[in-house]
This record gives sequence, C-alpha cells and structure tokens, in this order.
Amino acid sequence: MSLSDSRGSAFLSEPGGRLEGVLRVPGDKSITHRALMLGAIAEGETRIARPLRGEDCLATESALRQLGAQVSVQEDGQLLVVQGQGDDGLRGADAPLDLGNSGTGMRLLTGLLAGRPFESVLVGDESLSKRPMERVAAPLRQMGADILTNNGCPPVTVRAQGPSTLHAMRYDMPVASAQVKSAVLLAGLRAEGETTVIEPAPTRDHTERMLRAFGAVVRSMGGVISVEGLAGRSLRGQSITVPADISSAAFFLVAASVCPGSDLLLEAVGINPTRTGIVDALRLLGADITAENERLLGGEPVADLRVRSATLQGARIPERLVPLAIDELPVLFVAAALARGETLVTGAAELRVKESDRLAAMASGLERLDVQLELLPDGLRIQGGSTLSGGEVDSFGDHRIAMAFAVAGQRAAAPVLIRDTDNVATSFPDFLTLARDAGWRVGLQQQQQPHG
Ligand code: S3P
Repeated sequence: MSLSDSRGSAFLSEPGGRLEGVLRVPGDKSITHRALMLGAIAEGETRIARPLRGEDCLATESALRQLGAQVSVQEDGQLLVVQGQGDDGLRGADAPLDLGNSGTGMRLLTGLLAGRPFESVLVGDESLSKRPMERVAAPLRQMGADILTNNGCPPVTVRAQGPSTLHAMRYDMPVASAQVKSAVLLAGLRAEGETTVIEPAPTRDHTERMLRAFGAVVRSMGGVISVEGLAGRSLRGQSITVPADISSAAFFLVAASVCPGSDLLLEAVGINPTRTGIVDALRLLGADITAENERLLGGEPVADLRVRSATLQGARIPERLVPLAIDELPVLFVAAALARGETLVTGAAELRVKESDRLAAMASGLERLDVQLELLPDGLRIQGGSTLSGGEVDSFGDHRIAMAFAVAGQRAAAPVLIRDTDNVATSFPDFLTLARDAGWRVGLQQQQQPHG
C-alpha cells in the first residue's frame, strides 16, 4: 500500500530520543466512562475532575446528553459536572446513539439501557461495527431484556421493556471481560434481587468500586461479584478525581525503558491492581520502574511512577497477567522486540477482537521492521535484540498500535513512519505534545493527498 492510500495523518518517529522530566498523562478512559454513566443515573450532582476528553469518552458524554442527562464542561475541560436526574431520569433519544470507536461506551451503555421503558439504538464506526456484541446481549437477554444485534455486531437495539422488570441472575462469564461484567452489573441495578457475575480471571474492577462509592450494595470475593437491585432507589452523585490512565502511561514506561539515559516521572497514575499487569510484565523483562507517593484518588490507588532506562531481557509472560495488561500488550511486544532473547505471550486471543486484530497488526508491523516472530492463535513469540530497521507500518486505525510503533521508532536504525494515526485522539489527544516535551522524537507527518 502506498502512503497516499491510507487515511488521516501519520506519525514519524525518529531514532535517538531520551525521555526526561515530570509529566501527567490524561485521565483514565475506563473510569471516565463509568463516572459519566453513573452520574447520569444518580440523583444530585456528580463532579468529575481531570476526566479524559478523548473521542471515546466524548462519544459516551454526547450519548448520555441525547438520553436527557445534563453534562456541563468547566475549567477548560478539567471538570465535568453531571446533574443527575435519578434512575428514572433518562428518556429515549430521538436518533441513534453513536459510540464512535468505543467498545466500552457501547457495551456498558447496553447494560445501562437494558430494561428501560424506551428503545435505544447504538451504532459505531467501521471498526466498532465489526466487534462482537453478543457477549453482552446474550446475558442481558437471560435477564429478560430484549436486545437485537446485527449478526452479533452493532447496531445494537435495546428494545423498550414492557411492564415486567429485569430478573436477577447468576452469570458464569465465558471470557474474562470487564465490559461484559460491567454491562451485567449495570443491568443488575434495575433487576429484582441480587445479580451475580463469576469471572474466569480477574479483570478491571472500576465498576464495582464506583458503584459502591455511589451507594450501591456490591459484594466481591474470589472472582464472584454481586450487586443488589436498587428497588426504586437511586445512586447518589459523587465527586471523583480521575487518575492518570496507566494504559496511556504504558507508552512512556516502555519508551523511557528502551531509550538510553532516560529518567521520567509519571504523576498520579492509576495503579489499581487489576490494571498493573504491564508494570509486572515490564519488570519481568528487567525494567526499572518504581512507585512513589502511593495514595488514594477517587476510591482508586494512584502513585507517581518513576522509570529509568534499563537493559531488557526477554521472558515468558504468565497468562494470569494478560487480562491485567490487556490494552498494554501492543507496547509490551515492542519492549520484547528490543529485549535480548525470546519473549512469549500466550492466552491473549482477546487481542484479536479489539479496535483491530492487535496480534495480527503488531505481527505485521514488527515484521516490517525485521523483527523475527511467530504469530500464534493466542499470542506472539518474539525473538528480540537485533536492531529494528526503519520503515513504514500501518496502525490499522488503532490508537494503541499507532503509539506502540511510535515507541519502536526511537530505537530503530532509521525513522519509522506510522500511517493512519488520527485514532490516537480516541484515548490520548495530547500524545504528541506530551511525548515531544519529554524528549521523544516523534511528530506529525501530514500525508499527501492522492492526485486526480
Ligand atoms: C475496558 C475493558 C477491556 C479493555 C477496554 C476497556 C473497560 O475490555 O480492553 O479497553 O473499560 O471495561 P474487555 O473487558 O472486553 O476485555
């Protein structure tokens, strides 16, 4: 494919960066989505400080506005104030809800909208329109919701509920998915009795933590999570400060680890143990990461993460870390390519149904940079340590693939051009500014328009 065939802007990452200083990456995407949704069905005001203002969360925000929620943007986007109207305050939208690229937005809203007395239609962009939605529709149907998908994919239609309410259930989740767990728990708020989800492996628990903070009764032990139906009561609005997103910090953790002479402090990063698989995995590879000033922010643990460059060595990544590092695996593969020896990641078939097929996308880009690897059905085996060549890679329209290859370019023999990078704005709108301020040699390269 020639450069002019691909969409949007491109990044050029030039070798030789060294990362230094103190920076704060944007707010956590998962927590911002949840704060907006719970704020919309709570009674009273919810104040969300330092939210992510990326396209994914903006899509959730505008969907909630279409459903009647009032969200005001203050302090230059550093504060969102949601005026909650209570659990019965939402009303049907007069147009489809467009969740853009956001799987979290679509799957969690499907749960939030199940069992309501109006119909909702949820649509998404080209990538989201190919992603599996039966994983939430099926359990919600078991609770009595009437949900249609298009051959398992969006659009998702949540039909108006008749006089019967949703019924509570016990759901044994076939995949380790925080989105499925969250959709069932959110629907459980409207069910009679106690709804229970059993997860096959621990996944991010932001929904459980935030539901508790908003006044719901949530029990959680050994992978069995229950929520009591609200029985006509409403959640209570809260003030939340959103931690910096460890998924965005991950690109800086790897870039500083692999660029010699780096010493970087990432402030107020969320270190919820269901999210820190990337730190554990990088430490297995020999990364020098320390957590300083550990504290609680909005019910979530945070710390300042200090990362200094280190010599990385390949390792077998335990499968139990995979769900805890699920969004960070693309950049972990780049760390593996730069580490000496073999790194093996398995148990990661879920990567094939993310914003792109992230196993195939990473394998294709790394191979273009002359990395030796084996693409497995559920992972990658990477032979690291030889010099990456420069060249052109494709993001496949996926923000995390784009940023992962921006890391690779810092340690390649020649610049790496990453095509189709507009999607970075879904999760990390200021990525280039923050990266360049820290000393990362990455910038925007406007693509040529096709002639004729
Ligand atoms: C998310 C859960 C994960 C993750 C996604 C955000 C969430 O997806 O990949 O980016 O906010 O609940 P799954 O739960 O489908 O694994």
